[in-house]
Amino acid sequence: MHVQLNCVVVDPDDQNRQEMASFLTTFGVQVVAQLSNTDPLEAMLNRSDAPQLVVVNLDPGATDSLRRIGHLPRQFHNVSFFALSQVLDPNLLMDSMAAGVKEFVPLPINEIRFTAALERLANVNGMGKRAKLINIIPTQGGCGASTIACNLAASIGQTKKTALIDLDLVRGGCASYFDTRPRYTIADVMQSADRVDRTLLDNALAVHKKTGVSILSRPDLPEDTQRVNQPGLVRLYNILGRMFDCVVMDSVMSVDPMYATTLQTADLNVVVMQLNVPSAKNTERYVGAMRRMGIESSKIKIVVNRFVKKGWDIDPAEVERALGLKISWLVPNDFKTAISAINYGEPFVVSSPKTEISTAISEFGKFLMGKQVALAA
Ligand SMILES: Nc1ncnc2c1ncn2[C@@H]1O[C@H](COP(=O)(O)OP(=O)(O)OP(=O)(O)O)[C@@H](O)[C@H]1O
Ligand SMILES: [Mg+2]
Repeated sequence: MHVQLNCVVVDPDDQNRQEMASFLTTFGVQVVAQLSNTDPLEAMLNRSDAPQLVVVNLDPGATDSLRRIGHLPRQFHNVSFFALSQVLDPNLLMDSMAAGVKEFVPLPINEIRFTAALERLANVNGMGKRAKLINIIPTQGGCGASTIACNLAASIGQTKKTALIDLDLVRGGCASYFDTRPRYTIADVMQSADRVDRTLLDNALAVHKKTGVSILSRPDLPEDTQRVNQPGLVRLYNILGRMFDCVVMDSVMSVDPMYATTLQTADLNVVVMQLNVPSAKNTERYVGAMRRMGIESSKIKIVVNRFVKKGWDIDPAEVERALGLKISWLVPNDFKTAISAINYGEPFVVSSPKTEISTAISEFGKFLMGKQVALAA
């Protein structure tokens, strides 16, 4: 079953057609054909695997073009037509609407409006984005980002359809934290650049039986990380965003285009720190970078891991002052529970749900998913 909209692009200009096709692909729409004129369109729409969307540039000669294809939207009422033109003539607009064209898109394209139109169409076809994308970022080696990402996913996974993506492409350990051995990895999903469908993802997502979390692990061979790229990740987020209620990313502290895209796509960016000087400094540096990338403060959440009530190096209030952000959550220090969960290959929210560390992460998960729970003291 496809989880993508299928689309045909009709444009006499090669370059425009290419650009439109790659824009649609990036959005997660699968471009099944590119045509330089409308002649083959009717035959294509008559096929059993007809696309759900036709994007047609009416120029040049917009009125004539509309006359040629004007009967198609009514004839194929399950197919949505987007008509593009530089001509902003009210008659052309009225005639397009009367013919049953779903969206008239003035050229040059306003990307925000066009994306909104695509989103509306995806919703109508039951393919709207529904997942909350939660990006977990460490600020220091070993600060506990993977522990938090894996346990959050396991906890949220108990009530919501959840995926976990390991974006620590060389060193990541998500699959082993769940004791799963994936046959395919994130690198294999990238390979089929313009076709990410359910079957392919089903093979790459390893489902953890106890929690139901679907894990997309890092490549087995370090050199395969080269196959993971920014456009592939954009597509992946678009597709997973339509398949799941929640997608957790175990990321790294980086401004590389792949990670910048992840920051910008995520609904929430959770920065994991410890109350020591190097971690606090890195948190400040990275939050600064996120702000310069235009990430809203409301999308940045600070979590302090390995919190102890006495004996921290830095006062939490001082961290909040330096960042200009409140600390959203405190996860207590419990090395015994944390390390045995890793060694055993089962998140502690599953194996030791009653511990303080498990409760903290489960409540944090509810907080991130939007349920009303008390903030950290
Ligand atoms: N709240 C905690 N209390 C005590 N120990 C913890 C806690 N969280 C994580 N740890 C321990 O810290 C170590 C590092 O954890 P983890 O692998 O989650 O960190 P990370 O930030 O993902 O590290 P890496 O830099 O390797 O990606 C592990 O041994 C883990 O058991
Ligand atoms: Mg990690």
